[in-house]
Parts: sequence; structure tokens; C-alpha cells
Amino acid sequence: MGIREELERIRTEALKGLASAEDEKSVEEIRVKVLGKKGELTAILKQMGSLPAEERPAAGREANMVRSEIEKALSDALDSVRKKMRDRRLAEETVDVTMAGRAPARGTLHPVSIVTEDLIDIFRSMGFDVVDGPEVETERYNFEALNVPADHPARDMQDTFYIGDGLLLRTQTSAAQIRTMENRTPPIRIVSPGRVCRADELDATHSPVFHQMEGLVVDKGITMCDLKGTLERFAQEIYGADTKVRFRPSFFPFTEPSVEVDVSCSACRGEGCRVCKGSGWIEILGAGMVHPKVLRDCGIDPDVYSGFAFGIGLDRLATTRYKISDIRLLFENDLRFLKQF
Ligand code: DAH
Repeated sequence: MGIREELERIRTEALKGLASAEDEKSVEEIRVKVLGKKGELTAILKQMGSLPAEERPAAGREANMVRSEIEKALSDALDSVRKKMRDRRLAEETVDVTMAGRAPARGTLHPVSIVTEDLIDIFRSMGFDVVDGPEVETERYNFEALNVPADHPARDMQDTFYIGDGLLLRTQTSAAQIRTMENRTPPIRIVSPGRVCRADELDATHSPVFHQMEGLVVDKGITMCDLKGTLERFAQEIYGADTKVRFRPSFFPFTEPSVEVDVSCSACRGEGCRVCKGSGWIEILGAGMVHPKVLRDCGIDPDVYSGFAFGIGLDRLATTRYKISDIRLLFENDLRFLKQF
């Protein structure tokens, strides 16, 4: 076969191959096959020297034309396969913006969380900080530092889950008082909400797990009037502006004097109904003036400082507020119940 025919064959084959190339790899293969170091056209160009002198110029021109034609075809083919690949990818990645969306399911707050948040807002507005305490406590913080030694009958009032090594599941958030007084210096104004546990039977009004919010104020010249004013303000924010608060004498080892605090029943405005069992009052918390011994044991001089403390039952607050008749509903996690809040 003469050089002319050979060039024509290379040209036809290369152009045909490029016309049907589907990707960059096949284009590159053709380039190597024709123009590579050991390529067909390269081989021919190398043979030029052995041609008779009179044939050389024409053959050389011919070969150069074929080469530039193929080079152009290669670059066109590369452009076209790249465009094809891009079009294909775009088609695959198309997002149908008209497709209907899926609405994410909205959660709701648990009734105990709602009252907790509300109380935090109220106490924050009166300048209280919120502090957290551990649910697994030591006997010292849960009892001893609160003036309840091991043999004290008050321990019977709070049937405790002991977990060994002087540890227990806290029976009251009052432990947070001690941790706070050990870590801060007066003036102190804190509330501490959280979960507490007692080994009680589960029934409509008792649960072995429930929630409290502890409050503590320590400063110079704090009196029972400050306690009453603070609790009145809180009760009126929660139950309405005409709510009355009454103190009844009581006993807690860590306060002296101690009181139990009732609010006028918001369901019957104090006249007596099922909610308040006919008395017109609902008991919501225990409180008192921090016992001097408790202050002293925490390194606070009771001759200089005084304080008040209170412990609010949050589940009770939630059940009276939302007229929930059975406390167990708060812990069963039945979504049909929880979604109402
Ligand atoms: N810790 C008490 C309880 O669980 C409630 C309580 C009473 C807390 C009086 C106090 C307080 O801070 O001063 O029954």
C-alpha cells in the first residue's frame, strides 16, 4: 500500500472512531493510536525521509494536512463528549421543585417542662439564677448537710433508693442548696429544678419519680416577709392576680421556722370544690428560714446572714393547672395525652 492510501485509511478510521466516541477515554485511545509516540501517523512521518526526493514535498504536505485534520477532530470530539457527559449529569441531578414536601412532625413540650419553664421565667425576672444538681447524690448533700443525720426520724418521711457507697437517688432538690452555699458567697438567689426519687407506690397521686424546684435566697437582713412576698408574686403570676397565699406552721429539719404554703384554689376562687377537696386551698410547697446550723456548716455566718428556702412540687403544679386527674399520665408517655399541650 502506498503512503497516500495509508494516510487516507488512517484519516477515515480516525474520523469514524471519533464520530462514535462516547467518552473522554475512547477519544484519548484514538489519539494515542494515531498521534502517540508509536502511533500510525507518527510512524508514517518518520518514513518520509526514505521517500524519493521528488515525492517528498507532496507526501509531506498530505501527511501534515491529515494530521491537522485529525487534531481538530480530536479536540472537537473531546468538547462534544464533555458536553454530553455534563448534560447527562445535569439530567440525573434534576430536582423537581414542584414535588409536594413532607412536613416534619412537630413535637410538644411535656406539661412538667412547661410549668418548669414558666417558673424559671418568673424567678429569673426576680433576679434568681438557675443551677443544676446531680440526680445521684451523696448522703451528705441529700441529708446530713441539711441537718438530717442518719438516725433522724425525718429520713422515714423520704423513703430512699440507696445505691451503695454513700450514694443515693436524691429524694429532694434541697441538696442543691448546700452545693450552692459551698460554692458561692452571699448574696445568693437561685432556683434549682429537677427530678427526684422516693420509694413510693405508684398510684393516682404518688409516683416514685417526680419533680421539684428548689429556691434559696441568702443575704443580710432576709426575713420571712421576703419569703412571703416572693411566693405571693410567684403564685399570682401562675394562678392569677387575685390569688391568696397562706402559711401554715410545719417542720423541716433544714428550716426554722418552717411553713407549708397553700394558695387559694384557682378552680373555685376559694369557695371549695373537688380540686381543693372543699377546703378552698391547695398546698403547693414547703418553705422556711434556712436553719442557722445549715448556714454555719456551709461556711456562712448566721449572725451576719439569713436566708429563706422553698421546695415546689412541679408535678402537682402541672396537674392542678391542666386539671389532670391522675399523676401517672405524666409518666406513661402516651402521645395521645402529651400532644394536647
Ligand atoms: N425538700 C422538701 C421536701 O421535699 C421541700 C422543702 C421544704 C424544701 C422546705 C425547702 C424548704 O427548701 O425550705 O419535702
